[in-house]
Amino acid sequence: TGKTIIAPSILASDFSRLGEEARAVEAAGADWLHVDVMDGHFVPNITIGPDVVKALRPHVKIPFDVHLMIAPADPYLEAFRAAGADLISVHPEAGPHLSRTLQRIRELGAKAGVVFNPSTSPEVIAHIMDQVDLVLVMSVNPGFGGQSFMSSQLKKIERLRRMIDETGRDILLEVDGGVTALTAPQCIAAGATALVAGTAVFKGGPEKYAENIAALRG
Ligand code: DX5
Ligand code: ZN
Repeated sequence: TGKTIIAPSILASDFSRLGEEARAVEAAGADWLHVDVMDGHFVPNITIGPDVVKALRPHVKIPFDVHLMIAPADPYLEAFRAAGADLISVHPEAGPHLSRTLQRIRELGAKAGVVFNPSTSPEVIAHIMDQVDLVLVMSVNPGFGGQSFMSSQLKKIERLRRMIDETGRDILLEVDGGVTALTAPQCIAAGATALVAGTAVFKGGPEKYAENIAALRG
């Protein structure tokens, strides 16, 4: 229950004006700012690092939802937290000890998230649900914005919804990739409480952001 959290991905913004873009989506009603960190190794693209996150931080008040697509992730957790990350999500495939990584994220004072690639099974967190604050389901293969939503992931969202409900805890369930005004309702119906959107938020330029964000809430 409650309104869906909308987290625009700055990957789809104008990188030459990151501060302004962040302020514009905050003013347009964004709940979080989703920051896609890619290393050209774990995924076939390179984006931004902790220094850019730090430079962006003073521009807005909304939480920074930092999605790490880097391997290894552990050596960089502290830097991203110091740069202002409020939620830090890692892929299980990025390191050998997911539980230890989640523990470290919490020790640093951030919320700990686990990201599921389209082929990753929900089982990977079945025995460590107590260490998870956020579950992020990829509905595209990570690396690029602007890809098509994979409907095959809806069942996984439903499954994770049930796993979360069984814990009795308020674990966030977020979906990332190809989220549009058409696919958002499917994600929400499957149990998502937070939606990442790049293309669907930033299309049309700043005067459209509020309308684009409102369309995702349904
Ligand atoms: C993909 C990123 C996504 C991406 C979403 O690797 O994790 O956050 O920016 O972009 P759209 O909404 O355009 O699919
Ligand atoms: Zn992302």
